[in-house]
Amino acid sequence: MFNLVQMSDLTDEQIFALIKQALALKAGTDRIQEREDLYVANLFFENSTRTKHSFEIAEKHLKLNIINFETSTSSVNKGESLYDTCKTLEMLGCNLLVIRHGENAYYQQLQGLNIPIVSGGDGSGEHPSQCLLDLMTIYEQFKTFTNLKVAIVGDIKNSRVARSNYYALTRLGAQVSFVCPPEYTDPTLGASVDFDQIIEQVDVCMMLRVQHERHEQGLSFAAQSYHQQYGLTKERYARLKEQAIILHPAPVNRGVEIDTDLVEAPKSRIFPQMRNGMFMRQAILSLIINENKL
Ligand code: CP
Repeated sequence: MFNLVQMSDLTDEQIFALIKQALALKAGTDRIQEREDLYVANLFFENSTRTKHSFEIAEKHLKLNIINFETSTSSVNKGESLYDTCKTLEMLGCNLLVIRHGENAYYQQLQGLNIPIVSGGDGSGEHPSQCLLDLMTIYEQFKTFTNLKVAIVGDIKNSRVARSNYYALTRLGAQVSFVCPPEYTDPTLGASVDFDQIIEQVDVCMMLRVQHERHEQGLSFAAQSYHQQYGLTKERYARLKEQAIILHPAPVNRGVEIDTDLVEAPKSRIFPQMRNGMFMRQAILSLIINENKL
């Protein structure tokens, strides 16, 4: 079974093919193959706006039959396991599942399925479709990853976006630095550097959301002081290179990780990233369908 649950599921060649297909779909020079015979179920056990709806719109472009699984009214609330839920959807005729789940590596318990999975994010594990749309957005600007300097800034420890991007970008030849408070560091990825020491060298400034929902209850958080030390302020923006771009997976805590006036500044790709995601998710679904000969 060819699943996409982490970036190591893809070869470098497949990553570049996905980027090129997504860019061609965006430019209108390629058309996605429609598959009216296939059924896809979207199971989002964690909240989502971008991932859920851009997968759904991508699925509509492929003319797939869409089952939007409602976790709140499903038998999950009677205690049915994730495996039994997914196996049921397989037995009902679903050909493909898109799943977001709060548990890291949730997909390991789904190895008995005979239909492929595309992950919409697993806990603080990985977020491969977000990473691919980030790579598309970076490639669109620079046409290469080799020797690009990428700063990933913020709540690294809790970020599946940081992990997927670190693995993929380093593999593709970029140089990744981390900027974060000591309590948000992930020592398995790398130590934090001073934002002000690197701001003038970075090509890509990837800001991350402070994920309050994954923090211990009761931890105090001083938004203004975080913004001054780790946020993209107007002063730091002014020091970025001419060609540098700003990414953020969103949702954005405006005024915390980025000054609200910079969210749509000329160097920001925050909203264009979301649009790219719809093309990238069409390319991802197409790859999964083709590789699994569905
Ligand atoms: N970037 C991202 O995953 O956004 P959602 O949580 O809204 O899907």
